[in-house]
This record gives sequence, C-alpha cells and structure tokens, in this order.
Amino acid sequence: MKKNQLILVALGSVALFLPLSNMLGFNSKNEPITAISGTSANFVSATEIFQNKCVDCHSPGMTRMPIYAQLPIAKQLMAQDIEKASARLVITKSMYSGESSFTPLMLARIEGALRNDSMPPTLYLSMHWTDSVNDKEKSILLAWVAEERAKLAWSADTLPTLKGEPIHPLPLQVKLDPKKVELGRELFFDHRLSGDNTMNCASCHSLAKGGTDHAKVATGIRGQQGPINSPSVYNAMYNVAQFWDGRAKNLVEQAAGPVANPGEMGAEWGKVIDTLNQVETYRSAFAELFPNEGLTKATVTQSIATFEESLVTANSRFDRYLRGSAEILSANEKEGYELFKEHCASCHFGPVLGGLSFEKMGRKQNYFQQRGGALTEADNGRFNVTKQENDRHLFKVPTLRNVELTFPYFHDGSVATLEEAVKIMARVQHDKDLSKDEVDKIVAFLKTLTGEYQGKSVSLLKEEDFSVISK
Ligand code: HEC
Ligand code: HEC
Ligand code: HEC
Repeated sequence: MKKNQLILVALGSVALFLPLSNMLGFNSKNEPITAISGTSANFVSATEIFQNKCVDCHSPGMTRMPIYAQLPIAKQLMAQDIEKASARLVITKSMYSGESSFTPLMLARIEGALRNDSMPPTLYLSMHWTDSVNDKEKSILLAWVAEERAKLAWSADTLPTLKGEPIHPLPLQVKLDPKKVELGRELFFDHRLSGDNTMNCASCHSLAKGGTDHAKVATGIRGQQGPINSPSVYNAMYNVAQFWDGRAKNLVEQAAGPVANPGEMGAEWGKVIDTLNQVETYRSAFAELFPNEGLTKATVTQSIATFEESLVTANSRFDRYLRGSAEILSANEKEGYELFKEHCASCHFGPVLGGLSFEKMGRKQNYFQQRGGALTEADNGRFNVTKQENDRHLFKVPTLRNVELTFPYFHDGSVATLEEAVKIMARVQHDKDLSKDEVDKIVAFLKTLTGEYQGKSVSLLKEEDFSVISK
C-alpha cells in the first residue's frame, strides 16, 4: 500500500469510532433527485444507485461529506479523488433526473468500470463497505446501459437482443453519389497530386494493406522518413476528427494536408490545380459535378473525402454475428469478445471500435519509459493541438476494424504483432498482465473484425486490384 493509502485507511478506522450519526452526517442540501416520469424502471433504479454510490466522487459540488472529510489530509485526498473521477465521468443533476442523457462514451466507460469491478475504488470501499455494487445492482446498471445504446441510430441493423452491445455493425450500403466517388477514387490514385509525380494517397494508404503502408513510419517524397505511423483510410469517416492528434476536423480538411506537406507529397496546391485543370476528363467531370465551383482545391478535397466515405468495410464475421448469425463465432472468439468488453471496450467502442475519443497512451503505466528511446514531438499527441498539459500523450483511440492487417501498431509503429499490442494495452491502460490464453482469445476476437470492400475480404485484396486506375 502507498503512504497515502495507509493514511486514509487509518483515518477510516478513526472515523469508525466517531458517532454513527456524525459519520452519516451528510451535507443536507443534497435531497435525492427523482427520475422524471416516462423514464424506464431500469433507469429509476440506476439513478438511485448512482446517487447512493457514485455521487461523492462523480458529481462535483454535490458531494456528501462525512465528518472525517473535514480532517485536512482526508479533505485533500478526497479532493484529488473527485478531480480524477470527474475527469472521466461527471454525472450532473439533469442526468440523475433523466432530463439529459449519458453520451455513448460515458456509457462505454460505465460498462467497462462495472465489468472489471473497478468502481467504486477499493480504498473507498474499505471505509464505505456498504457502497460496493452488488450483483443485482450491476445487472440493473448493465441493463440500463444496454437500453440507452439501443436508442442510438448506429444500432439500427443489430439483432434486437444485441442492440445493447458496445459495438455495432457497419452499414452494408452507403448512399453516395457514385460519380463523385469515382472522381475521388481517381484523385486518390493520381500521382500528379505530389510534387514530383511519384506519390499518391495510396502510397501510404494502400487499400490492399488494410488502408496503411505496413511501415513503422510513413515515407514521403525523396525518401523522407515521417514522424508517425500511417493510420488506415478504411472507415476513417467514423472518426470524430482526423489524425492521431485530431488536428483536422473532418476528411475534407484532412485531405488538404498531405498534398502540401513538404515531408509527404510535397506539392503546392496552386500548381496541382493548374495541372489537373489541363486534364480534359477532370475538367469535364468537375464541371458536371460542381457546376458553380469547377475544379478547385475545395472541390478536389471534397471529392477525395467522398471517395473515403465509400471505404466502409462492412460484413465482417463479427458484424454478421451482431446481425444474428449466432453460430458464426467460435467459442474462443466469443470468450475473446467477453474479455474485450472487460478490458478494452471502454475506449474501443462504437461502429469502428474507436475513433470517438482521445485517451492517454499509458493511463496506468508509463508507456514511453517502457518503449525506450527519446520522446518525439509526435509522442505529445493531442497536446500539440490544444497546448493543454492534460492532453500530453493523448491520442485519438484508433479503430480496430481490420486490425490484423494494419501492423505495425501504435502511433510510433513500434509494435510488430497484434499479440504484443494487446499485451501492452492491458498493461499500460489497466496495469494488468493478461495471460497468454487471454491474449490469444482477444486476438482471435480481433481477427473477426476484418471486413469486405467491394464484396471481397480486405485481407484478399491485391495491389493489382487497383493498378488499373493508378496513374
Ligand atoms: C471515492 C470516489 C469514487 C466513487 C465513490 C466512485 N468513483 Fe468512479 N472513479 C473514481 C476515480 C478516482 C476515477 C478515476 C480513475 C482513473 O483515473 O483511473 C473514477 C473513474 C470512473 C469511471 C471511468 C472509468 C474509465 O474508463 O476511465 C467510471 C465510468 C466510474 N468511475 C464510474 C463509477 C460508478 C458507476 C460509481 C458508483 C457505482 C463510481 N464510479 C464511484 C472515484 C470514484
Ligand atoms: C507520405 C505518406 C502519406 C501520404 C502520401 C498520404 N498520407 Fe494520409 N496519413 C499519413 C500519416 C503518417 C498520417 C497520420 C499523420 C498524423 O496523425 O499526424 C495520415 C493520416 C491520414 C488520415 C487520418 C486517418 C485517421 O485515422 O486519423 C486520412 C483520412 C488520410 N491520411 C488520408 C490521406 C489522403 C486522402 C491522402 C492523399 C491526398 C493521403 N492521406 C496521403 C501518411 C500519408
Ligand atoms: C484507456 C483507453 C484504452 C483502453 C482501455 C484500451 N485501449 Fe487500445 N488504444 C488506446 C489508444 C489511445 C491507442 C493509441 C495509442 C498509440 O498509438 O500510442 C490504442 C491502440 C490500440 C491498438 C493499436 C491499433 C493501431 O492501429 O495501431 C490496439 C491493437 C489496441 N489498442 C487494442 C486494445 C485492446 C485489445 C485493449 C484491451 C486489452 C485496449 N486496446 C484497451 C486506448 C485504449
């Protein structure tokens, strides 16, 4: 036990000898909040549990302070707890009443904390032993989480009994203007978007390599080594923002970056637009599809983004399971999925198992120390965008769709195998060493996430499938 913990336990024991009425002498302005009418029975029970067992740390300003909390050290430690807790989950008054709802991220974190029994924290339970969440309460809370998820639009295609899962299938069809998709595809494969006509988007985002380049870090024109690993372009439209640090707000903004980046395609937009305007097929296609604007930087990046929106890898084996093919997964893969929900789905959730939040690389252990080597600017992650100290080493949680094909792993491309990546994740995010059996099961589950592009498994696609259109 750490010194602080010893002090707290000691304080807890002192508190035991204080009169019970004082112990329970909570701040009286906190009347229980009742659920508004129309909310479900599960929600009514869930909000009671939250107000009884979670409010102290997760609702700043509503904390019920027991008498020993007035003791200076306890006060300080509780303040630290509240600060850390509310950085992860804040439950507001209107959420207790059901007037405002919990976001998908909150639901994912709550399910994760319930499944790995991390809440309320053990140390707190050593003093508030009645506050642990019992099995009945746990099942009520999980049922409520499932109910909330079933309301989300992205669960539309899921088998009704699986709508509460943290993961949802990708749509089998996306509605896009086929002509714009085709135009975007030509641009994606066009070498004239680079300064010396040697590179196209596919140079670093090969559709035959899971949308990546299989290199530790990207190589730009004239062999320049980039600072960071190339993420996949497949399913990128599901990301809340683009790039590891989220510096581009969407695919259109993103597509403007690599072309003009001297370390990537090293071109100038003005020259690229002049060059493309000399190509008759482009001129006429842009005139038809963008009659007002014609061929400009804005319409080029928009077309590329539309093509990227078509890069949805639906119909993976796991998606078929979610749509109702119960037998399609082996027992091993299903066990892997259960382990995944316990350890991973608080961050890797939603249709692409990620892309929806920023998280610290190394929440519980120092990843960078264990990796070794000097810290790079890219290692700062989200900090580079916000300049907020709290955002140092935060990265957009990457998608795990097609993850067996997107090696090497992590923003620094430092890990070659999926097994190793899974082991490291459990260690640095949860301070947990998974057994080989557990790792193998999770990896077996992750391999069920490989989907299809144009009716063919992404794992079977070959460079030749795309060479016809590569200029
Ligand atoms: C004594 C204070 C305390 C109480 C009581 C408490 N929590 Fe927490 N909670 C914390 C702290 C501290 C963290 C942050 C832990 C960290 O940063 O790793 C946290 C984090 C969380 C998270 C985020 C998990 C994640 O993925 O990061 C969730 C969800 C959560 N708590 C739910 C609950 C629920 C539900 C209850 C009531 C059943 C509860 N907590 C009761 C202190 C508390
Ligand atoms: C030289 C290699 C290279 C080229 C060429 C390249 N990219 Fe990238 N791409 C990368 C790297 C590296 C990143 C991550 C950079 C970062 O996060 O800082 C990235 C990020 C992205 C992302 C964000 C994905 C995510 O999950 O955040 C998209 C989308 C993308 N590129 C599309 C394109 C398009 C479209 C083109 C062509 C216009 C292109 N790329 C050209 C290397 C390249
Ligand atoms: C606290 C949030 C969090 C949890 C929990 C978590 N991850 Fe991650 N995961 C991340 C972040 C952030 C990254 C990107 C880190 C980086 O690149 O430096 C990542 C990266 C990965 C990658 C590499 C993907 C790629 O394309 O490079 C894999 C694989 C992965 N996680 C699997 C898992 C598994 C399996 C678990 C459970 C054992 C897990 N993660 C738990 C946040 C999390």
